[in-house]
Order: sequence, then structure tokens, then C-alpha cells
Amino acid sequence: MSPITVVGSVNRDFVLTVEDLPKPGETVLARRFVEGVGGKGANQAVAAARLGSRVRLVAGVGTDAAAILDALAAEGVDLDAVRARERSTTGIAAVVVDDEGENTIVVNPGANAELGAGDLPDRLVRAPGEIVLVQHEIAPEVVELAVLRAHEQGGVVVLNPAPARAVDARILAAVDVLVPNRVELAALLDTDPPATVDEARDLLVRADLPCRAVVVTLGADGAVLKEAGSPDTLHIPAPSVDAVDTVGAGDTFCGALADSLGRGAALPAAVARAVRAASYATTGLGAQTSMPYAGQLDPLAVTSAS
Ligand code: RIB
Repeated sequence: MSPITVVGSVNRDFVLTVEDLPKPGETVLARRFVEGVGGKGANQAVAAARLGSRVRLVAGVGTDAAAILDALAAEGVDLDAVRARERSTTGIAAVVVDDEGENTIVVNPGANAELGAGDLPDRLVRAPGEIVLVQHEIAPEVVELAVLRAHEQGGVVVLNPAPARAVDARILAAVDVLVPNRVELAALLDTDPPATVDEARDLLVRADLPCRAVVVTLGADGAVLKEAGSPDTLHIPAPSVDAVDTVGAGDTFCGALADSLGRGAALPAAVARAVRAASYATTGLGAQTSMPYAGQLDPLAVTSAS
């Protein structure tokens, strides 16, 4: 089984639940408040570790992160490459979730923005086929260097371009599996987000992105996979669950996908398992609380792909 290196962010999440998301200028009272560990990098690392992978996290935190680091270590994540910055605070995310499970997130990057090129290990890929998982909550130049270095060293590069921003074709060409949601895909292609599964399929076929494969996550609609060289797409529907909160579902998807790829699974099977893991993660409040452990994935039925 190949190890996984995650290069990304660590946040302290403040999650507030409300009846309706506030409109501009409006103040609303929260029903509930929970504080937890978040950040797309930390979330993806925990998602993969809970499924049994050996995971190393490369990230930047402030000197206020002792409890967060303890929690990540308790999940079994290797923190040797996490850099604590003097005079800096760990990233903060204000997450507001309404009764329908819709959310808004505002992030203060803090120490995530200070993670520099020099903080990346020389050997990002320590064993042939190691999975390197990167997201967009750190500086663009660090994302680019991580992708290029991992590719040159023979790693399997998974890029989750979240939050949405454009990515240079030279970087996309070094990516094995790109995992955008509909909004991030639209930002990459400078177009409108696909509203339906069929629109997502059409967009992927027309876009012909230079990565080995693209997986678009579509929330309750599952995911669509397009592999380079194939004219077809594969739609994997999501099981029906009582969703409470979708925060962290995309991160669970990426962590689970990396875990399956590290076990040698083919992409369609890896995507199907990631869809099941992400669905499971929507059944509880907060990013990491409801991420599944290996044994918890089985009760969710997998509907057939087409
Ligand atoms: O993807 C969910 C994450 O986005 C949250 O944990 C929050 O920290 C933001 O980074």
C-alpha cells in the first residue's frame, strides 16, 4: 500500500448553525456552536488516515496550534513536516450552516499563507507510486512547486483546486487526477458551473483538460469521471443519506480517493468508494466529526454507474 503526502492547510473551524444564512447587513442568532479541526489539507489527511492509509502532512501552523496538532497526531497523521511559525496564528475558518445544510465559509489563512517553497520536503515522493494530494488553500507558487516536484519524482499527483482559481496548463499536465467541484471546474474553464450531470459530462468532454483524469464532484448527484484518451465519461451516483452538513464532504472525497489509489484500486472503483465516503461525511456537523472509518463505509449502498 502506497503512503500519502498531503500538502495543504490547517484551520481552526468555528462552526455555527442557523435557521437561515444571514443576508448582507443582517445579524442572526446561532442555534449551536462547535469548534473543531479543519482546513482542507488537515481534513484530507484525516480522511485518508481514518481509512487506514499512512499519511504525512506538510503544512504551516501558528504557535497556538498545540491542541490541533494533538488531535491530528491522535488520528495517526505524521506531523514531522508541519512547520510552526513564530508570531503567526493558525488559520481560522468561520463556517455557518443553515437548516438545509447550505453553508458559507470565510477563512483567515494565517500561517497557511506563510508556508513557503522552502518548507516542502526535497523528497515529496519517498516511495514509487506515493500519492501526493494538494489543494488551493496555500500560496499558488507552493501548490505549483508541490505538483511539479511530485510529478518529477514519480508520484501520483491528486490536485483538489479548492478554493476555485485558474490553474496553468503546464501544472495541469503534471496532475494525474484533478478533483474539482462544479464551481471549481467552471473557474478552471472560465465558464458557468454545470447545473446537471449531463452538463458536467458535456463540459468534461469538450474541455479535454491535459491531466490523466478529472473527477467532478456533484454533491448529492455523485461524481463524473473522465479519463484522458477515453471519449466517454462515467457517472457514479451518490447513495441517498440524511445530509446535515456538507462541510468537509469534498475533503473526505479526496482523502478516500487517495486511500483507494494507494491501495492500487482502479479509478472507477476509487471514485465509487470516495462518493460513498463523502456521502457518509454529510451526516454529521463539522468537517472531521463524521468522516468515516474503514468499517463504516459498507452500510451505504452503492448504486450502479453508467
Ligand atoms: O473544506 C472544508 C474546510 O474549508 C473547512 O474545514 C474550513 O477550514 C475550510 O478550509
